[in-house]
Amino acid sequence: MNIPSLFITFEGLDGCGKSLQAKLLYRHLKKISRKAILLHEPGSTPLGEEISRLVKWGDTTRLSPVTELFLFNASRAQLVSETIKPALAEGTVVIVDRFTDSTLVYQGYGRGLDLDMIRQVNDIALQDCHPDLSILLDTPLEVATGRRKKTSDRFESENDAFHRKIRSGYLDLAESEPERWLVIDGTLEINIITDIIIEKVTLLLETDED
Ligand code: TMP
Repeated sequence: MNIPSLFITFEGLDGCGKSLQAKLLYRHLKKISRKAILLHEPGSTPLGEEISRLVKWGDTTRLSPVTELFLFNASRAQLVSETIKPALAEGTVVIVDRFTDSTLVYQGYGRGLDLDMIRQVNDIALQDCHPDLSILLDTPLEVATGRRKKTSDRFESENDAFHRKIRSGYLDLAESEPERWLVIDGTLEINIITDIIIEKVTLLLETDED
């Protein structure tokens, strides 16, 4: 039997709780013996980890928004070729903590780059691996900021106006493509959020197996 794959991405502000929820979903899938991998962008390959260090902790004055666009997509292109594409081909559930929508909101809504230009670059890196489901944990900025680690990278140390643009950018994207997005109130209790996610993923897996 051909086991169907599923490609799930998690998105939201830093501190929204997506990394925890991605991990909890991954654990659930393992528990029910479903083949799954959990990845994170930027990173999850040796090249991606190098790029992550550069974009998150490099000298702020030296990275233009277009440079950021290419660096995130270089990391992505490698991750897609090295891991995501082969995993999907063998029926694995692929979970990625941040993906192309992060580039649209951070480099587009946040840094001001043209969204269509970003889509074109994203598409090159994607190699036709489009997410089936994107989960947005929507949290007010104050809640996300309160949950963040104390040391801030180049993005976390941006001002409130920047982060507000990120939040509304995500909501715009979700509104424009409701069939792909699951928007969850990130202020709900952790186990309630997990239950909503598992219910949705179970439904998609069952539909695929029909
Ligand atoms: P994280 O590793 O803590 O998730 O941080 C990654 C940061 O990089 C986060 O603040 C969002 C930002 N980012 C972009 O600006 N564009 C992108 O395409 C991605 C994947 C992340």
